Amino acid sequence: MLIKKIFQTPRSLALLIAIIVSLLTGIGFVLISTLPKNQQLLILIAYTLFVFTITFLASLILVNLFVSKRIKPLYKALYSIDKANADLVEELDQNNLLQRLEYDLRIWVEAHADEIDRLKQMERYRKEFLGNVSHELKTPIFNIQGYVLTLLDGGLEDPTINRRYLERTEKSINRLIGIVEDLELITKLEAGELQLNMERFNIINLIEETFEALEHRARKRNITVKFDKDYSKPIWVYADKKRISQALYNLVINSINYGKDGGKTTVSITDIGTRVQVEVNDNGIGIDQKDLPRIFERFYRVDKSRSREQGGTGLGLAIVKHIIEGHKQVIGVRSSLNQGTTFSFTLDKPGR
Ligand SMILES: Nc1ncnc2c1ncn2[C@@H]1O[C@H](COP(=O)(O)OP(=O)(O)OP(=O)(O)O)[C@@H](O)[C@H]1O
Ligand SMILES: [Mg+2]
Repeated sequence: MLIKKIFQTPRSLALLIAIIVSLLTGIGFVLISTLPKNQQLLILIAYTLFVFTITFLASLILVNLFVSKRIKPLYKALYSIDKANADLVEELDQNNLLQRLEYDLRIWVEAHADEIDRLKQMERYRKEFLGNVSHELKTPIFNIQGYVLTLLDGGLEDPTINRRYLERTEKSINRLIGIVEDLELITKLEAGELQLNMERFNIINLIEETFEALEHRARKRNITVKFDKDYSKPIWVYADKKRISQALYNLVINSINYGKDGGKTTVSITDIGTRVQVEVNDNGIGIDQKDLPRIFERFYRVDKSRSREQGGTGLGLAIVKHIIEGHKQVIGVRSSLNQGTTFSFTLDKPGR
């Protein structure tokens, strides 16, 4: 009980050491005073050495016991999650224990400071994401509301506008579906939840299919979309066909949306050893160098009004980057304002 109390605080420990030293000093003085004068100096020196040794040993043992009783539990608490390290504590002697504790605490504090920074950033990210999502959903929802109200207010009976308003409603609904699908996809991609279905396929066919899907849109904007040359032989790649098709679609549709009237989009494929490189080049409006590093961020749009006019949310390139990097491949961009833009990405060739 008493021993336990002594090791509770540094104060009780200091008190015990002080008592030991004063007792020894007191006893020494009494004993030395009884001795003849000519022996006193010698005995005093010997006795001082004796007191020094006893005090040193007693302090050493007591301080060690104190450290062990008070610090080991702290150390164990610090490592309570890590079983292997908690066991290690038992094997460390007191000197090492203090050194290690100091070192590990520093590491722990640094790691937690990083963790707090990361959590704060995630929170900022989450708020920004929610803000962006609701903002993007608002426009088509309000549009739908407007069309429906007009139809209810008599527009339904007016043959000059009823069909047009219903068609616009459908367009806004499709836009809503598109945004929700993109959001779903980007959430999955960012959480690393998307499984890739890798297969061997001919990239030329996939690009042709993309051209066909976007033919109407390109024609409407008076833009020609074609290969840089005639690819008569198939070019085989190993990737997730559906995802690469999505990436190609996003890149080609961007080249149309941000192209100039009468402009052109050219797709080329280059053999670069174990991989192939696909390039989507346009001679459109281009991207300012200061915006270039940010265009792969989600919701980032250089010219918001132009992008919105095309029905853009700013998710397309973020999705493309995730898809390509998910394949452990590289995506790049180069652009000159008013001259055009080239996006390029690599894909693995099938192994032999
Ligand atoms: N080929 C391009 N030429 C010029 N600017 C481009 C091109 N591709 C993308 N951008 C710019 O980068 C921005 C981000 O593109 P991204 O595809 O991510 O979004 P978006 O096209 O605006 O919307 P979304 O693709 O989600 O419908 C665009 O808003 C546009 O400003
Ligand atoms: Mg886009």
